Amino acid sequence: MSAIIRSVVTGVGDYLPARVVTNDDLSRFVDTSDAWIVERTGIRQRRQVVEGEAVSDLAAAAADRALAAAGRRPADIDLIIVATTTADLTFPATAAIVQRKLGCPVGVAFDIQAVCSGFVYALAVGDNFVARGQAKCALIIGSEAMTRLMDWSDRGTCVLFGDGAGAVVLEPGQGNGTVADRGVLGVALRCDGTKQDLLYVDGGPSTTGTVGKLRMHGKEVFRHAVVNISEAVVAAAAAAGVSLAEVDWFIPHQANQRILEGVAKRLGIDGARVISTVAEHANTSAASIPLAMAQGIADGRIKPGQLLLMEAMGGGLTWGAVVLRL
Ligand code: UT7
Repeated sequence: MSAIIRSVVTGVGDYLPARVVTNDDLSRFVDTSDAWIVERTGIRQRRQVVEGEAVSDLAAAAADRALAAAGRRPADIDLIIVATTTADLTFPATAAIVQRKLGCPVGVAFDIQAVCSGFVYALAVGDNFVARGQAKCALIIGSEAMTRLMDWSDRGTCVLFGDGAGAVVLEPGQGNGTVADRGVLGVALRCDGTKQDLLYVDGGPSTTGTVGKLRMHGKEVFRHAVVNISEAVVAAAAAAGVSLAEVDWFIPHQANQRILEGVAKRLGIDGARVISTVAEHANTSAASIPLAMAQGIADGRIKPGQLLLMEAMGGGLTWGAVVLRL
């Protein structure tokens, strides 16, 4: 046991666009049904941005609420990391736009692109900045407008995704180097670029010069998700020095209720300890974990001092997990 700087989550915030799109709404123009979507995914509705609503707007709104929860002001922020796959522009980074919109001072701001694993990656990177004393008050944001990447004629993908944003404030805290410390305790990050054809967007600045549409081999991704996520969860718990039985809440990336249940079953985790928002939010990519975290805090399930385990998998393929004590 020795004194150590931990990165502590001091505030959480979320923001969802106002427009609700139900499965029945989709079935009016795609060959699908509420029954199929609910049975295969657990999704009942999703939020969708409207014209003029950008990812930086969602991010700034979520960040604003996270700052209020942490009792901090934009002037305190010296690092902004935005995890997104649906940036406002090819450049500048959405984080730079968020910095301007919030009125934060000159500091470090950049985006991270790890698709659905983006928030886990961003939290891990933010942890390194804070724990090394390079940031005193960081905003780690996951913000996405995935509906902008949909091919609305592809029923295998367009029913799965939604839009939203979640944010946390990360600040240094004194720890003892034990699992009783508040803050990030363990991380596992992975990428296997050989599997990129399973889930990708078919456009980009240096190839087609277009934004492109999301393409996915759903069944294959599903199969990899359960195996890969389980491996990362075990690795992050080992890095933290905790057993899965000690974890109070599992906060998974919300892609598909069947994936959440598959991972829980494989690892022997009681479903009652899993936060699920997939029914209301669908898959919001990098936003889904902080959105779920915010919901769990707002409804009183997640409490300060509890041990949380977050996990995700997405395009790349990327995957990973983070263990933290709130
Ligand atoms: O964030 C990480 C990235 N994404 C994921 O983790 C998603 C991973 N994959 C999945 O969640 C699932 O594979 C899906 C939800 C995408 C698909 O579920 P599935 O049980 O694997 O279905 P499937 O792709 O095997 O399709 C079964 C049938 C097919 O019809 P046939 O060939 O059996 O006649 C599909 O054409 O369901 C059909 N189908 C649909 N039917 C109604 C596919 N999409 C739809 C739809 N509505 N929206």
